[in-house]
Amino acid sequence: MSAALTINDLKQRARGRVPRMFFDYSESGSWTGSTFRANESDFEHIRFRQRVAVDMENRSLATTLVGQPASLPMAVGPAAICGLQVADGEVKAARAAEKFGIPFSLSTMSIGSIEDVAEATGKPFWFQLYMMRDKPFMERLIDRAKAAKCSALIMTMDLQILGQRHADIRNGLSAPPRLNLNSISQIVTRPGWAFGMLGAKRRTFSNVVGHAKDVDDLSSLSSWIAQQFDPRLNWKEVGWVKDRFGGPVIVKGVLDAEDAALAVSHGADAIVVSNHGGRQLDGAPSSIRVLPEIVDVVGKRTEVLTDGGIRSGQDLLKALALGARGVLIGRPVLYGLGAGGEAGVTRAFDIIRKETDTTMALLGERDIRNIGPHNIHSNDLLKRQGY
Ligand SMILES: Cc1cc2nc3c(=O)[nH]c(=O)nc-3n(C[C@H](O)[C@H](O)[C@H](O)COP(=O)(O)O)c2cc1C
Repeated sequence: MSAALTINDLKQRARGRVPRMFFDYSESGSWTGSTFRANESDFEHIRFRQRVAVDMENRSLATTLVGQPASLPMAVGPAAICGLQVADGEVKAARAAEKFGIPFSLSTMSIGSIEDVAEATGKPFWFQLYMMRDKPFMERLIDRAKAAKCSALIMTMDLQILGQRHADIRNGLSAPPRLNLNSISQIVTRPGWAFGMLGAKRRTFSNVVGHAKDVDDLSSLSSWIAQQFDPRLNWKEVGWVKDRFGGPVIVKGVLDAEDAALAVSHGADAIVVSNHGGRQLDGAPSSIRVLPEIVDVVGKRTEVLTDGGIRSGQDLLKALALGARGVLIGRPVLYGLGAGGEAGVTRAFDIIRKETDTTMALLGERDIRNIGPHNIHSNDLLKRQGY
C-alpha cells in the first residue's frame, strides 16, 4: 500500500480490483457530472498564503468535531454499499477510522448493519438517516442507532428523489448484483473481489432488509428510493428526529445560506455543506464555493462541516481556511476500500494527514485550530469576492 502516494493512486488501484458497476457507482456524478467535477476543480482556484521563518515545531492536528475528539478535522462521510467495494467494507472502514481516531459515519443504505459495525468497533460512530415514508421503520432505525450507542445522527436532506446517474442505469446496478452475462464478465475479471465476497457476512442492504415491513429482498436501490424515500420531508422532521434520538443531529446536504439558517433554527447541532458529491442536483455550485457565504450566516451559531472533492490535505486546509470546522471524505475512503480494504483506507487517511501536516507547516501554522482566512492569499479569487 505504501506505493500509493496520492488518493488518485488508490483510485487507479481500486479501478483494477472492483467490478465496474460498483466502481462506476462510486465514481459518477448525476447527469453531465458538472457539479461532481467542480467539487474537485474549484479547489485549484484557491491559493494559500505562504509564510516563512516562523517556528513550525510541535504541530498539532487534533480538534473536536461535534464535541468529540478527532485526531484530524476529518470524518468518514456516509456512503451506500461500501460492502460491495470490498467484502465487509463498512466494518473495515469503521475499524480504520477508529484506529486513526476520527469519526466514522454509517449510511442507512449500507451493506453491513448498524449492529455489525457496533460489534466490530469499540468507539461510538455516527449513523446517517434517510427519511422514509414508513414511520414505524424510522422509529426502529433511530432506536437501533441509539441502542448501538451512536454518538450523532446525520440527517441527509438532499436525496429524497434520486438524481439520475447514467452509469448506474447502463450497468443495471443492484445489490447483490443480478447475474447476467455483463455482470458475470465484470466479476470473473476481478477474482480477488469475488473470492472475498464469498466469505462476506452480508451482501444486501442489512439495515433495511428484514427490518422494514414487507421488504425481504431489495435488489434495486433506485426502486426502493422511489417507493420509500419521503418527498414530503420538511424542516419540522429535524425536531422529531432530535426528540427521538436524544443526541446531536447533523443536517447534511445544505448548499444555501437560507437553508443553513433554517436548519439551525430547527435545532441542527451541526450542518454539512454538501451537494452529495455531485450526485444529486447537477448544475449546483461546488461545496467549497458556497462554504464562505454559509459560514457568514451560521458559523457563529453552529459547527459547519463540508464535503465534496476533498482529495488531499491541501483541500482539507482550504476548507478550514474558508471557515469549516472539519471535512467529510467520501470517495477517498471508497477508493481505499477497493484498493486494499482496511489497509487501503488507512493509507488514504495517512496520505491526507501527511499532506495536511506539511502544508500547515508551510503556512507557518502549528495548531490546526488556528487555520483561517488569513491563510488564503490576498490576491485569491474568493478573497477578491469579499471572502
Ligand atoms: C458511492 C457513494 C455513496 C454515497 N452514499 C451516501 C449515503 O448513503 N448517504 C449520504 O448521506 N451520502 C452519501 N454519499 C455522499 C457522501 O456522504 C459525501 O457527501 C460525498 O461523497 C462527498 O464527496 P466526495 O466523495 O467527493 O468526498 C455517497 C457518496 C458516494 C460517492
